[in-house]
Amino acid sequence: MTKKLIIIGGEGNGGVVAACIEDINRIHKKSVYEIIGFLNDYHANKICNYPVVGKTETAKEWAKEGYLLSFAIHPIGHGSLRVKLFDHLEIPDESLATIVHPTAFIASNATLEPGVFVMANCYIGPQTQLAKSVFVMANCVVGHNDYIGPFCHLSAGSVVSSYITIGKASDICLSASILEKVSIGDYCVIGAKSLLTKSTGNSEMYIGIPAKLHRRIEEKEYTLQEK
Ligand SMILES: CC(C)(COP(=O)(O)OP(=O)(O)OC[C@H]1O[C@@H](n2cnc3c(N)ncnc32)[C@H](O)[C@@H]1OP(=O)(O)O)[C@@H](O)C(=O)NCCC(=O)NCCS
Repeated sequence: MTKKLIIIGGEGNGGVVAACIEDINRIHKKSVYEIIGFLNDYHANKICNYPVVGKTETAKEWAKEGYLLSFAIHPIGHGSLRVKLFDHLEIPDESLATIVHPTAFIASNATLEPGVFVMANCYIGPQTQLAKSVFVMANCVVGHNDYIGPFCHLSAGSVVSSYITIGKASDICLSASILEKVSIGDYCVIGAKSLLTKSTGNSEMYIGIPAKLHRRIEEKEYTLQEK
């Protein structure tokens, strides 16, 4: 049966989810998902050619009606805001779509929690857990025995080695690499192309090779404004 999907967000991450769904339907030669539209607080017209069907606060009503939802609001460096926005929406786990592109390899004993999104050409290793609503964009490698905390975002081409723990809503940016047995705290950012060789605290931004503490991410930065 075709699953009816609503994407919460905009043309950035939300558009990637939509493109993934279109490709899933193309590869399976059937409508595995039907994209009903987007929920967005700032745009009222179309996003990626799909209608905006309401504001984000209507998410729980759609969930009650049996629609699946993908929470695609993942602004880089605003992990705390991401979690607050999600909690405010009160979406039950069973209404979160877990979406995996058919070209991704997921080990049979890896665990994907509700709301996880894995884009094309990714590798998710054995005994690794992707917690709720983790987004793994194209061409990422996540090794074995990792725990990637809820709402983390792995940008395209990032490489997470093995025995890694990442806390809540942290961002591994484009092509960053994380060496094995490292822990990353909550709400951290590992900058693009960086090589993280040691553990971080919470709310820290690391950049460079090897990555060094660039700055702390302050709570006052956590406001989301439409551009
Ligand atoms: C780390 C990051 C978030 C920027 O942090 P920031 O504190 O706002 O940094 P700024 O842009 O103010 O740059 C500060 C300095 O760090 C340098 N810098 C920024 N990012 C860097 C990186 N990834 N590696 C090395 N140096 C970097 C800048 O060149 C600048 O140097 P300067 O002071 O000599 O001019 C950003 O650079 C980054 O990596 N973004 C990732 C984007 C991404 O993955 N997008 C994915 C879309 S799905």
